Amino acid sequence: MTRPDIAAIILAAGKGSRMGSDLHKVLHVLGGQTMLGRVLSTLDQLKATRCITVVGAGRDQIHAAYPALDTMVQDSQLGTGHAVRCALPGLGGFDGTILVLYGDVPLIRAGTLQALADLVQGDTALAVLGFRPQDPRAYGRLVTDDQGALERIVEFSDATDAERAIDFCNSGILAGRADVLRRLLPQIRNDNAKGEYYLTDVVALARAEGHRIATAQAEPLEVTGVNSQAELAALEQQLTEHADG
Ligand code: UD1
Ligand code: MG
Repeated sequence: MTRPDIAAIILAAGKGSRMGSDLHKVLHVLGGQTMLGRVLSTLDQLKATRCITVVGAGRDQIHAAYPALDTMVQDSQLGTGHAVRCALPGLGGFDGTILVLYGDVPLIRAGTLQALADLVQGDTALAVLGFRPQDPRAYGRLVTDDQGALERIVEFSDATDAERAIDFCNSGILAGRADVLRRLLPQIRNDNAKGEYYLTDVVALARAEGHRIATAQAEPLEVTGVNSQAELAALEQQLTEHADG
C-alpha cells in the first residue's frame, strides 16, 4: 500500500490569555523545548511534506523564534473550523491527508499521528483522535452509532445531559482527506452556543455525504493541552515522572 502524503496544520492563533504572560503561549518551554518546537519535531519524524501554522495575535514572536516557519494568519479567532479554513490556501494543490494539530498540545507522539493518518483511506474520509480522560470536563464528546462508528461531535456547551455523560472525548486532533476538508469547511456554520465555526462539525457534514469516519484512542497524557502556568507546571511534572520510568 502506498501511503498518501501527509500535510499538517498547526492551530496556534489563540491568544493564550490564561497563561498570564506576554510570551506567546506556544513559545512556553516544556522539558527544555517550546511547545511549538515539540510539535514541529514530532512532525519531522512523520515526514509530513508540508506544514502550515495558523497564527494570530503575537505572531511576531512566533516569526522571530521560527523564521522559516510556513504560516497563515487568522485575524480574529472565530473558531477552530475557521482557523483550518484560513490555513487551506497555504496548502495549494495538496491532495493527500491533512493532519490538524494544536500548538498547545505538545506531547502528541508521531506513532499516534501516523496511525491516525493511516485510517484515512478508501471510503474513510476522516479520522478523529479521541481519549478517555479521568475528568471529561468541557471536552467535546464523540457521539457514535449502534455500530460504534462516529456520527458527530457535540461540543460541551451544546450537549444534552445524556451527551455529556459520554466519556469518549475529542482531543481536537484529526486527519482528513484534503479534498473533503476543502469542500466541507466552507459549509460549517456558527449557529451554536459559542457562535464559533467549529471544526468538529465537519464530522456530521462528512457523514451526511456518506463518508465513514474512523476514531482512534490516545493516552490522555499525549493529548493534554496547556492553558495556564499551572497546567504547564503539571505537565512538566508528569513528563519528569514518565522519564523516570
Ligand atoms: C476544542 C474542540 C473540542 C475538544 C477540545 C480539546 C472544537 C470546536 N472544539 O475545544 O471538541 O474537546 O478542543 O482540547 O474544535 N484556535 C485557533 N483559532 C481559533 C480558535 C482556536 O487557532 O479561532 C486554536 C487555539 O489556539 C487552540 C486550539 O485551536 O490551540 C483549540 O482551541 P480552543 O479554544 O482551546 O478549543 P476548545 O474550545 O477547547
Ligand atoms: Mg481548549
